[in-house]
Amino acid sequence: MCGIVGILGNGPVASQVVDSLKRLEYRGYDSAGIATLEGGHLTRRRAEGKLRNLQARLAEEPLQGHIGIGHTRWATHGRPSEYNAHPHATDRVAVVHNGIIENFRSLREELMGQGVNFQSDTDTEVVAHLVTREMRRGLAPRDAVAAALKCLHGAFALGFIFEGEENLLIGARRGAPLAIGYGEGEMYLGSDALALAPFTDTIAYLEDGDWVVMTRTGATFYDENDREVVRQRQKTQAGAFLVDKGNHRHFMAKEIHEQPEVIGRTLAHYLDMSAGKVSLPFDLPFDFKAIRKLSISACGTAFLAGLTAKYWFERLARLPVEIDVASEFRYREMPLDAGDLTMVISQSGETADTLASLRYAKDCGQKILSVVNVPTSTIARESDVVALTLAGPEIGVASTKAFTCQLSVLAALAIAAGVARGTISAEQEQALVSELMHVPGLVAEALKHEHDIEGIAKELSKAKDVLYLGRGTSYPLALEGALKLKEISYIHAEGYAAGELKHGPIALIEETLPVIVIAPRDHWFEKTVSNVQEVAARGGQLLMIGPAGIAHEAGIHNAQSIVMPDMAPTFSAIVYSAPIQLLAYYTAMVMGKDVDQPRNLAKSVTVE
Ligand code: G6P
Repeated sequence: MCGIVGILGNGPVASQVVDSLKRLEYRGYDSAGIATLEGGHLTRRRAEGKLRNLQARLAEEPLQGHIGIGHTRWATHGRPSEYNAHPHATDRVAVVHNGIIENFRSLREELMGQGVNFQSDTDTEVVAHLVTREMRRGLAPRDAVAAALKCLHGAFALGFIFEGEENLLIGARRGAPLAIGYGEGEMYLGSDALALAPFTDTIAYLEDGDWVVMTRTGATFYDENDREVVRQRQKTQAGAFLVDKGNHRHFMAKEIHEQPEVIGRTLAHYLDMSAGKVSLPFDLPFDFKAIRKLSISACGTAFLAGLTAKYWFERLARLPVEIDVASEFRYREMPLDAGDLTMVISQSGETADTLASLRYAKDCGQKILSVVNVPTSTIARESDVVALTLAGPEIGVASTKAFTCQLSVLAALAIAAGVARGTISAEQEQALVSELMHVPGLVAEALKHEHDIEGIAKELSKAKDVLYLGRGTSYPLALEGALKLKEISYIHAEGYAAGELKHGPIALIEETLPVIVIAPRDHWFEKTVSNVQEVAARGGQLLMIGPAGIAHEAGIHNAQSIVMPDMAPTFSAIVYSAPIQLLAYYTAMVMGKDVDQPRNLAKSVTVE
């Protein structure tokens, strides 16, 4: 996750850009950089490390331009260094970028084939060269950006300035956040409203897929189909930005929509995306090869992340996994062999039962790996090694982005375990890492079904009971779907392994019972489809979440469906979380429930 900023000012903007970057440094500080126009010419200053290094550089070699873009980097592609620092530039355009360009490898090869020389290892540089190519073909800057955007896959935000164009700043958003700010004859662009707080309190947010053309007198927005659109200006409260809902009604909605970005950020911490390998940011105090059994303990949604990971560790690393909710784990007195590994998963890092499980396992002589979102938490402090989820603060009580970030970390760890244990080859590792790299973009795509889901939620809000079904990793997701729905809408819901349907819950099926089937095209797809037919034959109200045409393939004509993007199956649970969360969110909202603070629940449970 990086921070980007852009300013069209009335005087020299370099110090304003730096001020703004200071507010974005929480997003990354591997390097920082700025580009302006000096006498109409693109000029850059960049420095490795924290922003103060860039400031020192600017003190020695000041910039006077009245237009500028700036960047603070969280390295994904290519090591932290000056030559990989943003902005990336050609003689025509400079660009700053947050997020991942998934298809950068093929674009880079294509451009190299056309004679382009690359100056960095980043995915970003392909964007500068694509825009340049279109400009050399005769397109104006705005059309060149529009054409280049169509070549890019992934979840990202971008900011551009152009050689000789003193009054033009272009921004684009797909998956990662981007806001613009209105000043007195000045205009601003930034990763969040916090970055723009020193300059203005009048903000407009780009919607997903939007791009924006800015001059000093205003901004024109375009949607993903290049149609001109209106995005409302709104007043923000500068002081409250860190816990601001952006343009969402609830923190939960904001956190659901942050997922493409925070998943990308989390994955970047665990993967070397250029090499297509897992690269853990810490040394392991144990050898995965020597571990005979992995025990996992957690509560609530974090437990369901662990249950999903059981499938990955067992399948990819052939490592047996024992998992239990922490309140049982701590009292079962189960034998745990010294030298084996216990993994605890917790957003807050403070959950009492999870902490007690950790201490029990430690007393048994086990090594402790924790997956937590709060690095200073008790669980983090008491663990042998901490795998951080970089979800940022989660305010909504019902966990969303922390869950998908936990899944992302666990997926990377399962691949690492597979490599260490020799159960996956280098080629398989590359393929799995590439599948993971597509996840942020696929989540962004899945979130586009929000409007359809809102419609479906209106129906669902009338139900008394709801059944969720899934097989394989979709089984824990069925449990999570039911948990999310009951937590915030108070509708009774149950998750079941689809194959277990005929051993009980099938007795409940009648026309008034909605049955939600999670059916990605995976190893169990055909079998799930058979279970769907069993429901349909008994008149159940079906909602299918799966690839296009799933209801047709199952030969069912009266089912509703939420169509999901095509994807490789291994990590589908991360992508399929998006519709599950939106369904619960909109159902609760339609019912007028307190979505962010549901009754009787707490965000951090520090009692047994
Ligand atoms: C509470 C929260 C859940 C969360 C669970 C575990 O029940 O409402 O959203 O999943 O605690 O919390 P933790 O902080 O350990 O992940």
